[in-house]
Amino acid sequence: MKKTVSSLKSMKNKEKITMITAYDALFANLFRDADILLVGDSLNMSFGGAKDTLSASLEQMIYHTKAVCAGASDTFVVCDMPFGTYTDETIALQSCIKVYQETNAGAVKIEGGAEKAHIIKALTTNSIAVMGHIGLMPQFVRSEGGYKIKGKDEANIAKLILDAKAIEEAGAFAIVIEGVKPQAAKAITEAVSIPTIGIGAGSDTDGQVLVWSDMFGLNTEFKPKFVRTYLEGATLFQNGLKEYMQNVKEGSFPDENEVY
Ligand code: KIV
Repeated sequence: MKKTVSSLKSMKNKEKITMITAYDALFANLFRDADILLVGDSLNMSFGGAKDTLSASLEQMIYHTKAVCAGASDTFVVCDMPFGTYTDETIALQSCIKVYQETNAGAVKIEGGAEKAHIIKALTTNSIAVMGHIGLMPQFVRSEGGYKIKGKDEANIAKLILDAKAIEEAGAFAIVIEGVKPQAAKAITEAVSIPTIGIGAGSDTDGQVLVWSDMFGLNTEFKPKFVRTYLEGATLFQNGLKEYMQNVKEGSFPDENEVY
């Protein structure tokens, strides 16, 4: 059955939440059994070839979210709000209403801690479901001078807990915790009553998320420590291509069964 905000919330302390990215209808359909499909702005890097997520546009995210919703109409879909589309309450409302009106996304995701709570509140009080995102936040890569692991000391763990609580208080239904030390992710998870979904944050969160092209081995140049490779995708595709090319060159494709 299709998950809802309330069924996802009720999974905390009962069943781990599985989230995977999806960017198009074809793969959304293949991944439809996951609890949540995230149309992450990571698509700007993994499929768009950009060096960070900052140039992803709202139109781009809407296009991909529409496709994902079409491919997996019975799966809960979250649209990642791109950089610059939620800088204040008014802009955030305009951007997220556009996402809700033009796609079937069940929620939006927003990066930021307590400083973004007023924006999350403006959205949730206007019937927009919000997933927060704290810890390593890819949209902060330029302001922070790189991708920095968080939760390394007590002061930062305390700050992350305050961030998570502020996001919960503002009405978010779940929080992504990215790139933090496992003990910090555990402390945050215990401090809030909404589910946490970790990436590079250890096993003590309420769920996990991975970028699909990473976990299925398509991106041979990017193998961070936290990713488990579930499939040697690049090798499979390259072997398939090699065989196809060989068949074409030698004239064995197409054969008599592969013609009209
Ligand atoms: O953009 C994305 O795919 C994300 C996940 C890595 C959480 O934000």
